[in-house]
Amino acid sequence: MAMLETKKLYAGYGKLRVLFDINFKAREKEITVVVGPNGAGKTTLLNSIAGIATIHDGQVLFENRDITKMAPHKIAKLGISYLLQMGNIVSSLTVEENLMIAGYLLPKEEVKDRVDEVLDLFPRLREFIKRKAGTLSGGERRMLAIGMALMRRPKILLLDEMTTDLAPILVKMVLEKVVELRDKHGLTIVLVEQNAKRALEIGDRAYLLVSGTIRYEGDSKELLEHPEFSKLYLGIT
Ligand SMILES: Nc1ncnc2c1ncn2[C@@H]1O[C@H](COP(=O)(O)OP(=O)(O)OP(=O)(O)O)[C@@H](O)[C@H]1O
Ligand SMILES: [Mg+2]
Repeated sequence: MAMLETKKLYAGYGKLRVLFDINFKAREKEITVVVGPNGAGKTTLLNSIAGIATIHDGQVLFENRDITKMAPHKIAKLGISYLLQMGNIVSSLTVEENLMIAGYLLPKEEVKDRVDEVLDLFPRLREFIKRKAGTLSGGERRMLAIGMALMRRPKILLLDEMTTDLAPILVKMVLEKVVELRDKHGLTIVLVEQNAKRALEIGDRAYLLVSGTIRYEGDSKELLEHPEFSKLYLGIT
């Protein structure tokens, strides 16, 4: 079943049109990968779902409910957690404080339990709990960012460029964590990735966005092996 869906979506910023006729689906408990060249509109697609971009036409549906005109904080409350491309960690605060901030909408008495839950998922973060987030390595910061997104126990996680600028071994580590979230915790994930090859390897279904339109929709591994697209748009040889 599609948990999240866009229907004939046209969206952008103000009058600027970025996305054209996007029919996108993210199925329950799957990793849906979105790849494409810089400026293709990948982030804008996530922004449209999260209520941040301007929707010109079409619909966004979450669990069959129309959320097209809904305010971002209401969308978040429905269980859609969006991890921005630039991240949202406060470097001058500790790991623990960052997690607590991410849970600020929760009842106070729940926050500590959720922090514990997240730390169980990311045992390495437990070792750093009192350290300032600014002192974490690139990979550890991404883990913290995912942990923050999980504080509110979302139904679906929108991840934008989680592995950009990371060393290959850390890319692997972060993406393995994403797989674990799907397989062990039943999370539904939309993964926007620059590291197209690795993302498509772990994905279930995939979309290729080019100039604001969908050029490919289907099995993730098949896109990886697509005779034309893999070379032309994804730098896979
Ligand atoms: N806040 C904004 N206001 C106006 N235009 C924007 C805004 N954000 C993005 N754009 C424009 O929308 C287009 C699509 O940008 P978007 O960020 O969605 O691309 P992307 O596929 O995520 O690219 P990248 O791989 O570089 O992250 C670009 O031309 C960009 O300049
Ligand atoms: Mg982007």
